[in-house]
Amino acid sequence: TACGGTGSAAGNAGSDKITMGFAQVGAESGWRTANTKSVQESAKKAGIDLKFSDAQQKQENQIKAIRSYIQQKVDVIAFSPVVESGWDTVLKEAKTAKIPVILTDRAVDSTDKTLYKTFLGSDFVEEGKKAGTWLVDESKSATDTVNIVEIQGTTGSAPANDRKEGFEEAIKANPKLKIIASQSGDFTRSGGKQVMEAFLKNNPDIDVVFAHNDDEGLGAIEAIEAAGKVPGKDIKIVTIDAVKDGMTALSNGKINYIVECSPMLGDQLMDLAKKVIAGESVPERVVTEETTFTQEQAKQVLASRPY
Ligand code: AHR
Repeated sequence: TACGGTGSAAGNAGSDKITMGFAQVGAESGWRTANTKSVQESAKKAGIDLKFSDAQQKQENQIKAIRSYIQQKVDVIAFSPVVESGWDTVLKEAKTAKIPVILTDRAVDSTDKTLYKTFLGSDFVEEGKKAGTWLVDESKSATDTVNIVEIQGTTGSAPANDRKEGFEEAIKANPKLKIIASQSGDFTRSGGKQVMEAFLKNNPDIDVVFAHNDDEGLGAIEAIEAAGKVPGKDIKIVTIDAVKDGMTALSNGKINYIVECSPMLGDQLMDLAKKVIAGESVPERVVTEETTFTQEQAKQVLASRPY
């Protein structure tokens, strides 16, 4: 609970609820849907009044939502920035209005770290590295070049930038591994399908797909099957997220490996928000704990996956 702090909810003997304005990216993926649910459920549990907006993957909508939260004088603003750049102006407005901001899931590239209190979310570079390291291991006996196509996430977003960087870094360990094409599928299933269709048309010899999230990988599966090839066998697939649909495809052998990215950020977010409002110190970075899944491991945990 908020106690002894400077926020509007503090000192009101519990009569006044904390209000949080949350500016979500959109509903582009299974991951995002699970993340929204986690934030909404955790706010309820924590007794926090949540104002929620969906930006439909557009930065201008997120900026509008943040400005409206400032106008409404919420106690705290939390948001998952759709892209990394271009936030300084609106974050300065929040700071001037003395409304603390918490970044969740995705980072901004602002050099002024006083514009937000903390950043809660995954280490996306590490996720990309895990995907690349798996492929290095998987291809250790390859005698020919391994042709990789990459389906990137939303252009300019932290997870797309960082996963690309981490993956490229890891695959340097084997010079046979070559990215022959790379394009954005915007983190959606339809985007993944379209990009994969084009890749298949232009490249007769694709060995591996690295998709920045499960949804894009699931779209790629549709394109590969439509082209008469067998996903997971003729073309191997590695993705990131580990949502139910992705884990199902992994269990069925259509995906070969998934790096987990946890969307369950709600409880930690509400906890951080209460501390920030109470004037307590919080770490400037809180990294989510995550694992990886092989096909065998996916079979074992599939039934108990919560999202
Ligand atoms: O920012 C996290 C990423 O965004 C997830 O990997 C992806 O599925 C989502 O859309």
